[in-house]
Amino acid sequence: MATNRTFTMIKPDAVKAGHTGAILAHINKAGFRIVAMKKTHLSAQKAGEFYAVHKERPFYGELVEFMSSGPIVAAILEKDNAIADFRTLIGATNPVEAAEGTIRALYATSIGENAVHGADSDENAHIEGNFHFAGTEMF
Ligand code: RTP
Ligand code: MG
Repeated sequence: MATNRTFTMIKPDAVKAGHTGAILAHINKAGFRIVAMKKTHLSAQKAGEFYAVHKERPFYGELVEFMSSGPIVAAILEKDNAIADFRTLIGATNPVEAAEGTIRALYATSIGENAVHGADSDENAHIEGNFHFAGTEMF
């Protein structure tokens, strides 16, 4: 399994606000190569499956509703140390705790509507990338 890849989504809040291009520029400038990318709209069922790990959390219903509320941009990204470096680039889950200059500090509006997703492990990046893309869509 590749250990130099991560998976991201630009979430519905940021797409709707017109931040897709700016966020992709941050990703590009930080040295990530795009392996796969698409704009799509998750159904509530698909969003629920994607975040099934959070099923027991109090915010699960809100999260599923939000993630299926509009189009997203999903991507597989490649770089040395991709998982950790991407988490650094996006900043803390809650934008008020996100370091200055991070994507969430710049574009997130709340802990729930926080502009981007970043995979938290090699294993999850692999699972999440395969959730959204066929092998023939990865380059
Ligand atoms: P993500 O998976 O989206 O990259 O975010 P994360 O690792 O920083 O945070 P995680 O704990 O995995 O939570 C997943 C997403 O659920 C929403 N959330 N809402 N209202 C709340 O208290 C709350 N907490 C989390 C956020 O959209 C978060 O990114
Ligand atoms: Mg997470």
